[in-house]
Amino acid sequence: MRCLHTNKNDNSACREEAKEYLACRMENNLMAKEEWSKLDSDEWAAWSKRGDPVLHIELAKWADIFLIAPLDANTLAKISNGLCDNLVTCTVRAWEISKPLIFCPAMNTKMFQHPLTSSQITILKSWGYLEIPVIEKVLICGDTGPGAMAEVSTIVEFLKDLINKQGIK
Ligand SMILES: Cc1cc2nc3c(=O)[nH]c(=O)nc-3n(C[C@H](O)[C@H](O)[C@H](O)COP(=O)(O)O)c2cc1C
Repeated sequence: MRCLHTNKNDNSACREEAKEYLACRMENNLMAKEEWSKLDSDEWAAWSKRGDPVLHIELAKWADIFLIAPLDANTLAKISNGLCDNLVTCTVRAWEISKPLIFCPAMNTKMFQHPLTSSQITILKSWGYLEIPVIEKVLICGDTGPGAMAEVSTIVEFLKDLINKQGIK
């Protein structure tokens, strides 16, 4: 959040910073169990025998709110069909339906306008998941139209409201 703010929402700068941050923490064994950033490879690294905690189950139990931003077309399709082949989608499958899950779709306008997108979003909403809708702007591919992820400030405000309403500390 801080990086996005400093770099005026330039994701590429933040991706690099996040990669360096994660690499450094992993090298120095500083990845606390509760840390928000987890990788697919951590799933198996953390488990060796029956009774050991399974990361996606632990994350699903531990978190109060699940935010998926951006939710791309591929992961939207997987979630709406119950597929779970990585850490994010496994955690979604283990997510208690009564806890809030917020998703922020993001994709090219052509992909967004395909009828599959609205049917899949409808499925997620029918489970009580909360959508922060896409906005219109110049997309990463240079096209202009609907499909861009909501502004980070919109997402932050939405989260703050939800946290206040639910009384989450
Ligand atoms: C530069 C670039 C940008 C992309 N941006 C998006 C995007 O905003 N939304 C989307 O649905 N797919 C996008 N894609 C396609 C996804 O990367 C692709 O569907 C991938 O399989 C998603 O995998 P994941 O759901 O496991 O993250 C993009 C691909 C490229 C090369």
